[in-house]
Amino acid sequence: MTTLFKSSDRVIFWNLNRKAIQRMLDYDYICRREKPSVAVIVHPSSDTEIMPFFFGSTEVIIPVRKSIKAALELCSDVSVLLNFASFRTAFDVCKEALQFSQIKTMMVTAEGIPERFSRQLMCEAKAKKVSVIGPSTVGAITPGALKTGNIGGTSIHIARTQLHRPGSVGLVTRSGGLFNESCHFIYQNADGIAEGVAIGGDRYPGSSFLEHLLRFETNPNVSFSVLLGEVGGQEEYRVIDAIKQGKLTKPIVAWCIGTVAESFDNAVQFGHAGAKANVALESANEKNKALKAAGCLVPETFNDLPRLIAEAHTRFSSVRRSVEADVPDMPLDYDEANKQGKIRKKSNFICTISDDRGEEATYAGVPISDVATPDTKYSIGDVISLLWFKERFPSWSTDFIETVIKLVADHGPAVSGAHNAKVTARAGKDVISSLVTGLLTIGPRFGGAIDGAAKYFKYGREQEMSPSDFVRYMKQQSLPIPGIGHRIKSLLNPDKRVEVLKTYAKSVFPQTELLDYALLVEQETTKKKENLILNVDGCVGVLFVDMFRSLSKSDEEIDHLIEAGLLNAFFVLGRSIGIIGHVLDEKRLGMPMYRHPQQDILYQK
Ligand code: ACO
Ligand code: LMR
Repeated sequence: MTTLFKSSDRVIFWNLNRKAIQRMLDYDYICRREKPSVAVIVHPSSDTEIMPFFFGSTEVIIPVRKSIKAALELCSDVSVLLNFASFRTAFDVCKEALQFSQIKTMMVTAEGIPERFSRQLMCEAKAKKVSVIGPSTVGAITPGALKTGNIGGTSIHIARTQLHRPGSVGLVTRSGGLFNESCHFIYQNADGIAEGVAIGGDRYPGSSFLEHLLRFETNPNVSFSVLLGEVGGQEEYRVIDAIKQGKLTKPIVAWCIGTVAESFDNAVQFGHAGAKANVALESANEKNKALKAAGCLVPETFNDLPRLIAEAHTRFSSVRRSVEADVPDMPLDYDEANKQGKIRKKSNFICTISDDRGEEATYAGVPISDVATPDTKYSIGDVISLLWFKERFPSWSTDFIETVIKLVADHGPAVSGAHNAKVTARAGKDVISSLVTGLLTIGPRFGGAIDGAAKYFKYGREQEMSPSDFVRYMKQQSLPIPGIGHRIKSLLNPDKRVEVLKTYAKSVFPQTELLDYALLVEQETTKKKENLILNVDGCVGVLFVDMFRSLSKSDEEIDHLIEAGLLNAFFVLGRSIGIIGHVLDEKRLGMPMYRHPQQDILYQK
C-alpha cells in the first residue's frame, strides 16, 4: 500500500512560518507521533541555529540551517521538502532541492509563480521522479501520519473532523479552503479521509488529480474517492480517460465548482490562476456532465454533494465507526487560553502607583500630561505625593517636600557621598556608577538617620519620656540618638538648613509637636557637647512625622512608612542632584585618577 506520507516521514520546512510549523507539531502530537514531523527549518537569513516550539505542552528545539544542503547534512532521513518561500523565491528553492536525490516529495505553497516556471519545474521533477504538490496549495495530509503546514485547519477543526486518524475516503481537490470543507462533510457523511491532497489552483499543477487517484486505487483503506474539481484546465478529462481504460475502478464522487460561470456573458476568471474556462469543455458544467457519463457519482448541485457521499459510504464502504477515538487534549497557547479566560495565574508583581496600559501612563490615576507642564500647577512635591503616597497632598505639605529636597541637594565636596562619587568619577567611571558609589555612603552617620530620628523621637514622645529621660534611655540602650550631632555644625555654628526648616514648619505646619520635643532633647544633648545639635537628618525626620500626623495618617501608617525607609529616600532623592553635580564637575575639569597621599595614612605593623 502506498500513501503519500508515512508516520515516520520527517520534513524540511523552508522559511520561518512559525504558525504553520506549530500547527504541524500540534497535529503530530494529536496523532501521537513519537517526535515532530519537522526535522529542520531552512531560513537563509536566520541569525540563530535553533527555534523553540511546543510538542504538546513540552518545549522542543527545531534546528535552523541556512541552506537545503546544510539541512540534509543534519537530517539524512528527510525526504520531504515543504517550500513556504514567497512566489519570488519558491522556484529557486525547488531547483535547489531537485539537486538532492534524498528529496522525494515537494510541496510548494506560493501563489503567483509564473506558469513557465511551474511547467519547467514539473518536467524536471518528473524526470527525477520527485512528486510535487502545488504551487498555490495548502498541501496534503495522510491522517495519522503527517500533514503539511496549515492543511486541515486548526487543531480544533482536526479534532472535529477526526483528521488525526485514517478514514475510508480518498479526497483530492484544487482548493485548500474547499479541502477543509470537504473533510468536514466527508467525516459527517462517511467516516473521514484515508488521504487528502489539494493539488493547488494554478493551471499547471505539479501533480494531477489522476496521479493521486491512482495512488488511492492501490490503498486498501480507500473504499471510494471524492474529486472536487473546478472550472478551467482539463485535469478532470484525464481522470475520465483512466476510468474508461479501467485504470480507476474504485467509485468516485465528483463535482466541479464554478458552474455559476455560465451565468455570466463572458468567461469569468475566479480566484485561482487556473480557474477560467478558455474553451467550452473546460467549463464546470461540461466537466460534470463528462464525469457523470464516465460513471462517476455527480450530484445535481454542490449542496447535494454531502448526501451523495453518504450514499457512497453506505454502498461502498464497510467501515462503520460507532465510537470515535478520543483526540488528545491539545494544550492551549498561554495567550490564547488567557484570551478565552481558561487560565488564571497569580501576578508576579502588583503596582498600585501608576499604570502604563492606556494611551497615556498615569501617576496614581492622573495622566502624565495633566501633571507635566508648569501650567498644570503640579510641582515635584505633587508628583512625589502621587507616586509615593498615591494621593495629592495639600500644597503646604508638597511645598515642604520640595523644600527638603532643595535643602539636602548638596553640602559641598567634603562629605562622604560627594567624596566617593568624585573619586569614582576620577577613576573613569560613568555618571551612574559614580552616583551609586556616592549613594552607598548614605547611612546612620550620613543622610541615612532620618528614619531613625523619626522612629526614636516618636517613640520617646509616645512613651511620654521627658527629654532628659529620653537621652538617658538611649544612652542605656547604647544607642546614639539618630539625627543628633554634626561634625562641623554646632550651637555656635548652627546648620542654616535646620534653621530654614524650623522657621518654615512653624509658619505653615498645622502643628509641630515632635519638632518641639526634639528641640527640647537638643537642649539636653548640647549640655554635654555643643555639636550634639538636632542635625538636618533629625529635623527632617521629626517634621515628616508632624506632617503625616497633620494629614491624619495613623501612627501605624507612619510607623510602616518609617520601617520601609521612606524618609531616608527623601535624602537620597535630593542628594542625588548634588552628587551628580560633583561627578559632572570632575568630568568637566578632567581631573586625573585620585590616589590618597600616603602621608595621610597611618601604616601600622
Ligand atoms: N546621641 C547622643 N549622644 C551622643 C551622640 C548622639 N548622636 N553622639 C555623641 N554623643 C555623646 C557620646 O555618647 C559621648 O557621650 P559621653 O561623653 O557620655 O560618652 C559624647 O556625646 C561625646 O561623643 P564623641 O563621639 O566622643 O563626640 P565627637 O564630637 O567625637 O562626635 C559627633 C560627635 C560629631 C556627632 C559624631 O558622633 C558624629 O560624627 N556623628 C555623625 C553625625 C553627623 O555628622 N551626621 C550628619 C548629619 S546631617 C547629614 O548627614 C545630612
Ligand atoms: C550633609 O548634608 O552632607 C552634611 O550635613 C553632612 C556633613 O558632614 O556636612
